[in-house]
Amino acid sequence: MSESVVVHEGIDDSKRKWVAITCVAGAGAGIATAVPFVSTFAPSERAKAAGAAVEVDISDLKVGEKKTVEWRGQPVWIVRRTPEMIAGLAKDEAELADPESRRNADELTPAYARNRDRSIKPEVFVAVGICTHLGCSPNARFAPGAQPSLPEDWPGGFLCPCHGSTFDLAGRVFKNKPAPDNLRVPPHRYLAENKLRIGEDQKA
Ligand code: FES
Repeated sequence: MSESVVVHEGIDDSKRKWVAITCVAGAGAGIATAVPFVSTFAPSERAKAAGAAVEVDISDLKVGEKKTVEWRGQPVWIVRRTPEMIAGLAKDEAELADPESRRNADELTPAYARNRDRSIKPEVFVAVGICTHLGCSPNARFAPGAQPSLPEDWPGGFLCPCHGSTFDLAGRVFKNKPAPDNLRVPPHRYLAENKLRIGEDQKA
C-alpha cells in the first residue's frame, strides 16, 4: 500500500475555531493585525496534500487481483475483474440490499458508476475499502463457493471481519447484514488506459 499523509481533520477544525475566536476578539485592533490571522486560516500544505487527488498506475494490476492505494487517509481498492466476476454480478442481485445503488447515491455512487458494475469500465472496480457499518476494512474473498464465515453459495466478494457484513464484487451489500449501504465508489477518472486519478470526477 502506498503511504501518504493522513489527515487528522480535527486538528484543522480546532485551528479554524481558534482563529475565528481570535478574530472576533481582535476585531477592534484593525486591518493590520488581521493579516496574520488570514494566513493562519489558510489550509496547511500538509492538509492540502492529504486531500489531493491521487494518480494510480494500474498497468501492473493482474486480472483477478486487487491493489490498494491511499486517498484522504482511506484505503481505496482497485480490482481488475475477470469476465467470470463481471458475469456473476448479474446473478446475485436477488440477495442484495440495494442492487441498483439507489441509497445515498450522491454520497456513495457517482453518476458514472450507477450501473450493475458500479464502475466506469466493467473490468476495473474502484471502491473505498471501508465497511459502511462501523468502518472496519473488509477482506477480499474472491474465490466463490463454501468457505469459513461465508454461505455455501458464496459468489465471491468481500467479507467484513468485524460483524460479518458481506459485499459482492461491485461492493454491493448483501441483505440482512449490519452494513446499511454499499461500499463507496470514490470520484475517479481515467487519465490513460492504465492510469487512474482518484479524487476527481470523470466529466459527463
Ligand atoms: S464494521 Fe463491517 S460489519 Fe460492522
